[in-house]
Amino acid sequence: MPNAQYIKTMFDDISPKYDLLNDLLSVGTHRIWKRKLVEEACKTNPKAVLDCATGTGDIAFGFEENKIDRIVGCDFSPVMIENANKRKDKNKSDVNFIVADVSNLSFKDQEFDAATISFGIRNVENLEKSLNELSRVSKNLFILEFGTPENTFLKKIYFNSLKLYFPVLSLLTKRSDAYDYLIKSSEEFPSGKNFCEIIKRSTTFKNINYTPLFGGIAYIYEAKR
Ligand SMILES: C[S@@+](CC[C@H](N)C(=O)[O-])C[C@H]1O[C@@H](n2cnc3c(N)ncnc32)[C@H](O)[C@@H]1O
Repeated sequence: MPNAQYIKTMFDDISPKYDLLNDLLSVGTHRIWKRKLVEEACKTNPKAVLDCATGTGDIAFGFEENKIDRIVGCDFSPVMIENANKRKDKNKSDVNFIVADVSNLSFKDQEFDAATISFGIRNVENLEKSLNELSRVSKNLFILEFGTPENTFLKKIYFNSLKLYFPVLSLLTKRSDAYDYLIKSSEEFPSGKNFCEIIKRSTTFKNINYTPLFGGIAYIYEAKR
């Protein structure tokens, strides 16, 4: 189970290089996956959306291209929110960024039509409590997360090739442990059907589906009422 204080400090530390790292490590594919997450959420015509574990705000800014009245982005790392706000000023955006922990949100029941969390749920200390909180504040939930490819050959190639990035990450962030954490947490985190079971037992959502991306390197989960 990830330790919240360790995770918060790690993301505070890597925040200035976070966007560059994302592009390097995913060779830009994270942008395609994130766009798909926003598209799926927008199919439900939400008027108010909450993006949790927003980081520097990629998903929240993605929603601005759609007709949405209220967009809130939250993250428990103050440095991530500071960097999201810098992007907000640069883009002249209306997103409201706040520091908040996804396991303890101050919003009313079903205040949001849709909630999203992209590459964040794997990092929360209390997974079931966080999922429950997301289902309390939103009518529909959309999750993007790394997973394990179902094909054993692809799985081996994928995790071995990830290790090649180790020197780049250590050099850029001075937090080589962050990279160990990325690989270990992706390998260990439940994906596909197993993660749908966790959503089912932790929330009040009735319809839960998933779509593997790139053979299961990442997954999009949709949970609806
Ligand atoms: C890998 S980043 C993802 C950022 C962004 N969503 C993206 O896709 O680029 C994970 C983020 O989750 C945040 N986070 C981890 N645990 C959290 C929690 N319990 N509550 C709120 N944010 C959390 C971290 O601070 C970090 O910004």
